[in-house]
Amino acid sequence: MILDALIKIKNEIDPTLTFRRSCREGICGSCAMNIDGRNGLACLTNISSGGPIMITPLPHMFVIKDLVVDMTNFYNQYKSIEPRLKRKNPPETPGKEILQSKADRKKLDGMYECILCACCSASCPSYWWNPESYLGPAALLHANRWIMDSRDEYTTERLDAVNDEFKLYRCHTILNCAKACPKGLNPGMQIQNINKLERLTP
Ligand code: SF4
Ligand code: SF4
Ligand code: FES
Repeated sequence: MILDALIKIKNEIDPTLTFRRSCREGICGSCAMNIDGRNGLACLTNISSGGPIMITPLPHMFVIKDLVVDMTNFYNQYKSIEPRLKRKNPPETPGKEILQSKADRKKLDGMYECILCACCSASCPSYWWNPESYLGPAALLHANRWIMDSRDEYTTERLDAVNDEFKLYRCHTILNCAKACPKGLNPGMQIQNINKLERLTP
């Protein structure tokens, strides 16, 4: 894998080479970078040929050092969608979990798997142009994840919070995000779902 090559270079050639990694199995999302022109995870990308491979930091992100980019804006945008279960009514039985039908649980497929690697947002032209005002595919995928959660009681407020010319309506369905996602998710489709619900909300 590309990550093995980077670790070998760091261990044997240049100890100053700086990159993030942790799980080395596509779970932590920290080794996202651009490999031969495509955003992806170094730990899941094969060294495909014996020829040179171009590795650069995620595009259009501020670089801290080598392959390490500044994720502050990305995480703040994630935080802004309040990524946690919010309730107005306490559970019927205090201390018990809030139940969900299998059908409602299934509505979260394609979203809960996100590992917040930022490959999608860093591949989105709209995000490149408006990184501070457009929430970008990752944060919007998570906004939809909570909008669609049958246990959450702040659906209307969540829809109101993203119903903004810049926060939401910069997506032009180019779907670079879906091509870039190493987990096979389609943030563009989740954004379309928010758009549809915004149209149905009085
Ligand atoms: S579909 Fe939307 S979020 Fe995805 S890359 Fe295109 S503009 Fe960006
Ligand atoms: S949607 Fe995919 S590419 Fe985007 S942050 Fe989540 S896992 Fe990464
Ligand atoms: S090291 Fe965790 S996703 Fe690559």
